[in-house]
Amino acid sequence: MAYSAPRGTVDILPESSGKWQELEQLIRTICANYNVKEMRTPIFEHTELFTRAVGDTTDVVTKEMYSFEDKKKRAITLRPEGTAGIARSYVEHKLFALPEKLQKFYYMGPMFRYERPGNGRQRQFHQFGVEMIGLESAYIDVECMVMAVTVVEALGIQDIQLHINSLGDDESRKAYREALIKHFEPVVDELCHDCQQRFEKNPLRILDCKVDHEHPAMKNAPRTIDYLSESAKAHFDKVCSLLDDLEIDYVVDTNLVRGLDYYSHTVFEIISDDPKMGQGATIGAGGRYNSMISELGGPEVPGVGFAFGMERLMLALGDSDNQGNGLDVYVMPLGQEAKDLAMQIVTMLRANGFTCDMDQCDRGLKGQFKSADRYHAHFSMIIGEEEVKKEVVNMKCNHSKEQSVVRLEDIVEFIDRHFEGGHEHE
Ligand code: HAM
Repeated sequence: MAYSAPRGTVDILPESSGKWQELEQLIRTICANYNVKEMRTPIFEHTELFTRAVGDTTDVVTKEMYSFEDKKKRAITLRPEGTAGIARSYVEHKLFALPEKLQKFYYMGPMFRYERPGNGRQRQFHQFGVEMIGLESAYIDVECMVMAVTVVEALGIQDIQLHINSLGDDESRKAYREALIKHFEPVVDELCHDCQQRFEKNPLRILDCKVDHEHPAMKNAPRTIDYLSESAKAHFDKVCSLLDDLEIDYVVDTNLVRGLDYYSHTVFEIISDDPKMGQGATIGAGGRYNSMISELGGPEVPGVGFAFGMERLMLALGDSDNQGNGLDVYVMPLGQEAKDLAMQIVTMLRANGFTCDMDQCDRGLKGQFKSADRYHAHFSMIIGEEEVKKEVVNMKCNHSKEQSVVRLEDIVEFIDRHFEGGHEHE
């Protein structure tokens, strides 16, 4: 039997893991700039967490979760997103009792959704997400959006648009729900089976139906923004004016309702027009969630956050020439005694903080030089019978092509001196 990775999963091979590490490093640097700290939560959680937090009428919960019973018949789900786990952990560890009222977290890691795999869409994919929990403030909504825009800009991703909308508070949502019911009631029989159920349970979800999106009733459906309460409108106006002050471009997109149930007030998406992803692909999205913490048993503490699909960020990044950093030294022994010595030398060099490797295939010089080249080694260190006898090695700088004979005890000093002299890798 030939084994292959399950549909919708991808192996990240060494040739591209360097690019992933670069992306992760850049994200960590930006998070440090924003004083956002990492939180790592489990990859699986109790299923109940997601049905409660994400919503039991959403596609994510009803169609896309990887759920199973464990050996003790507990209902377990591989996390389809990161916000619910962070909120659960925040409540469980009583982080609301910390002296700093606003807590800012980030996370990176695999998420799981049973979706049709496609361009930038997988069943196991990675998200980088940020959650800012503790304050119901338009300033924090905007901090999240600015941070999300900073990430895409730092990656050099162009042709992006920030779309924003407001779903309002409880009062606005109740008024909007009634408007939706009134609007869809005459045509409910023409909608798909799922939408008929959505109509009963959660009419807002009709708006992100993939089957009925061409139905005429969708085009002139009521807009959330027309049903905002006074305070919800004031919150949204403040968000817009802060974005204006910071000269962040955005589009108010009144069709934006997001596919997860926990949102209130501000919602946003970062949409790319980069042809590599297909026009209008959403690379990141988020919004405010003011009742999730209390619904999970915590106090009334509001939150706001966003998440990027990391595969989509990688796609947008394209095929940059990723060779990573080369080796400092590639050690090339010729013969058994030289190999024994080489083993000692690489161990000693690694202990001294140098990146190095050696030939383990007992090849001739030509093959070994090819490896030194493939690893972009700064030095090739040649050890033949003669060198073993004289207790020296032959160091060839692959940049200047200079060769030097160096005594064993002087190797570290020699390399240090060479690098100090400005002979770093280009
Ligand atoms: P989401 O819109 O479901 O939001 O997902 C966020 C991003 O994850 C999407 O914009 C997309 O880039 C990526 N994504 C989603 N599904 C897939 C997939 N199957 N394959 C590849 N990438 C995918 C959330 O998950 C919210 N937790 C965001 C958030 C955080 N809201 C508040 N805080």
